[in-house]
Amino acid sequence: MRIGIVGVGYVGLPLAVAFAEAGDDVVGLDADPRVVAALNEGRSHVEDVPDAALAQLGGRLRATASYADLAECEAVIVCVPTPLTGSREPDLTHLNDAASSLAAVLREGQLVVLESTTYPGTTRERLAPILEESGMQAGEGFHLAFSPERIDPGRTDYTVRTTPKLVGGLTEACSERARELYAQVCEQVVVLSTPETAELTKLLENIFRSVNIALVNELSQLCDRLGIDVWEVIEAAATKPFGFMRFDPGPGMGGHCLPVDPFYLAFKAREHDFYPEFIELAGKVNRSQPAYCVDRIARALNEQRKPVNGSEVLLLGVSYKPGVGDVREAPSLEIATLLRELGAEVAYHDPHVPELPALGLASSELEAALGSADAVAVITAHPEVDLAEVVSRAALVVDFRGATRALAGGNVVRL
Ligand SMILES: NC(=O)c1ccc[n+]([C@@H]2O[C@H](COP(=O)([O-])OP(=O)(O)OC[C@H]3O[C@@H](n4cnc5c(N)ncnc54)[C@H](O)[C@@H]3O)[C@@H](O)[C@H]2O)c1
Repeated sequence: MRIGIVGVGYVGLPLAVAFAEAGDDVVGLDADPRVVAALNEGRSHVEDVPDAALAQLGGRLRATASYADLAECEAVIVCVPTPLTGSREPDLTHLNDAASSLAAVLREGQLVVLESTTYPGTTRERLAPILEESGMQAGEGFHLAFSPERIDPGRTDYTVRTTPKLVGGLTEACSERARELYAQVCEQVVVLSTPETAELTKLLENIFRSVNIALVNELSQLCDRLGIDVWEVIEAAATKPFGFMRFDPGPGMGGHCLPVDPFYLAFKAREHDFYPEFIELAGKVNRSQPAYCVDRIARALNEQRKPVNGSEVLLLGVSYKPGVGDVREAPSLEIATLLRELGAEVAYHDPHVPELPALGLASSELEAALGSADAVAVITAHPEVDLAEVVSRAALVVDFRGATRALAGGNVVRL
């Protein structure tokens, strides 16, 4: 097959590679010319896709910035970002732009699949009408389906191939086309009755995590008041073989998905005069966690008779999770901003994030930074960083990930 992928980022690029590995000819279209140029030179910008994986594709993945190059594709999969506006409303600008450009080149018989996470109704109410500006009817002239991406960047135990794929088409024929498409690269394809079901299923998966993370984040704050070790409680609860699923507290929720997606559903619910309280509450608790972490750092410094004002705080790990360099919505950004507002000198070390333009900082060399920092805050515990070394050298470690639990040290304060 010839397959087009619109938006070759964290989601689109691994998918493009999976289809090319399966023998398809893939056109990766991206609005960012740097992404297009890098991919055509064999350089990947996504950690999960090493350059070596691109080199092995035998030229079956080609990048472009021109929608005209999609005209020959049998299927076009849309993986553009779906962020929030400043007032935390769905921002479908990227999707609208991609859909308008696609409508101009759409050909009869093509299958279009949306993978971007969004509220139920987007495929039918927003995407279909724009694509129908081509003069063809969705479900008749072209096929249309929604299939949520379930990728977890940095994860190696479940891949595109081994993670079951959901598809929901506008018509049965649309679903069948989508099932055939993904069956090439996924071991199990689950066909749902409508695109809306598929859209909502993805949101349920993410909201489930957001709510459970909020629960343990709130518990961490309560444990602080009670003088109980939250990590010991969570590990103890996790020994129960049924009825409990482990989630860990942390410095707050980051990434493009969990802090963003629940608001897509809350938006849709409001349109129906419904106010989903779990979603809003989880967002509120999770968004309060960075400020709580700054308070913990301030109290830990205070114990050492140091004010935050003028203290040097080294943030260890600024990406939103271990093993990736993605800083979108990362709690480190808010923690750094709040610390600066209190007068702290903020530095960071992160092997995956060489520069952080949002803060005007570059990653510090670890050894020197450990020597001068008044406090080291473990925000993201990347496996490459030797925490035993950090604990042995730092004046004070404030660990928001429970990553130093096995290490002895009177200089460690944990969430
Ligand atoms: N990153 C994840 O872990 C993850 C997991 C599941 C689902 N998702 C969802 O997948 C979607 C994409 O997320 P991502 O993390 O891959 O984003 P990303 O920013 O890594 O990649 C998106 C790409 O789309 C390109 N783009 C933007 N507008 C475009 C346009 N009009 N035409 C062509 N290209 C355009 C951007 O330049 C970028 O390279 C989002 O809806 C997200 O919620 C992400």
